[in-house]
Amino acid sequence: MPGSESGPDLNEFIEKGSEEERIAAAIDFRKLPRHVAIIMDGNGRWATLRNLPRVIGHRAGIDAVRDVVEASSRLGLQVLTLYAFSLENWKRPKNEVDTLMALLMEYVQLELPTLMKNDIRFRVIGRTEGLDSPVQQELDKAVAATGKNGGLLFNIALCYGGRAEIVDACQRLLDETVGEGRPVPRLDEELFASYLYTAGIPDPDLLIRTSGELRISNFLLWQIAYAEIWVTKTLWPDFRKKELLLAIRDYQKRERRYGGVDGTPDRKKTDPSRQTLSA
Ligand code: FPP
Repeated sequence: MPGSESGPDLNEFIEKGSEEERIAAAIDFRKLPRHVAIIMDGNGRWATLRNLPRVIGHRAGIDAVRDVVEASSRLGLQVLTLYAFSLENWKRPKNEVDTLMALLMEYVQLELPTLMKNDIRFRVIGRTEGLDSPVQQELDKAVAATGKNGGLLFNIALCYGGRAEIVDACQRLLDETVGEGRPVPRLDEELFASYLYTAGIPDPDLLIRTSGELRISNFLLWQIAYAEIWVTKTLWPDFRKKELLLAIRDYQKRERRYGGVDGTPDRKKTDPSRQTLSA
């Protein structure tokens, strides 16, 4: 991504004289959130408002995904994590689940060249072993093809649950220790986090939720301990880079104290901006 001390080159990406340009002008590109996580919500309502089947809302949501991935990459974010399918979403009608999986495969197939062109590394977090093998294969292909890219890390949370992730981390720790006849090491937060799906990735600085709901919905429960939360009433299919810019601008106005008084004491442990990307 082209960038400099004065920020990324936004020509061709942000129209001259547009509202996006005005919002971007208020952003300090040296202090971007390193990791933005998004709960994409409102696809069903978007479709229902138009008297369309819910699955049309999911299809429309793909345009928002494309726009936000490109924007995140161009702005110079390190990590973007999108919540695409929770473990609880398996309870939805089969037709809806099948459509979501088909859309995911289609997205990965169609977008792979763009991900490569923009140096984006694609990863999936969640219990993906529960997916049908054609879906798994398509995802694995994209993960492998983009594995050496050095720009934005784009995570899709799929078959994901925050509690399940914590349970999986404990299970793996036990398998690798007790299961091998070795003692369990003394745990601290850093060691525990190294067993999560997000090991080596800085925690989200900014959590966005669309459609106005004020819930976390079992998303990245451990990792969002100090995230700033930004909620918009916009339904996910209508979300575009303008709102991502607004969220970043508002995030930069927040005072992050990490439980201290002025944000300085012992920040090393809790401040995600001090964590380095090694995944
Ligand atoms: C929430 O809307 C959205 C989802 C459960 C799925 C999001 C998936 C996509 C946008 C498509 C595939 C994603 C990628 C990353 C390629 P909802 O159905 O819960 O809406 P509602 O609350 O209005 O019913």
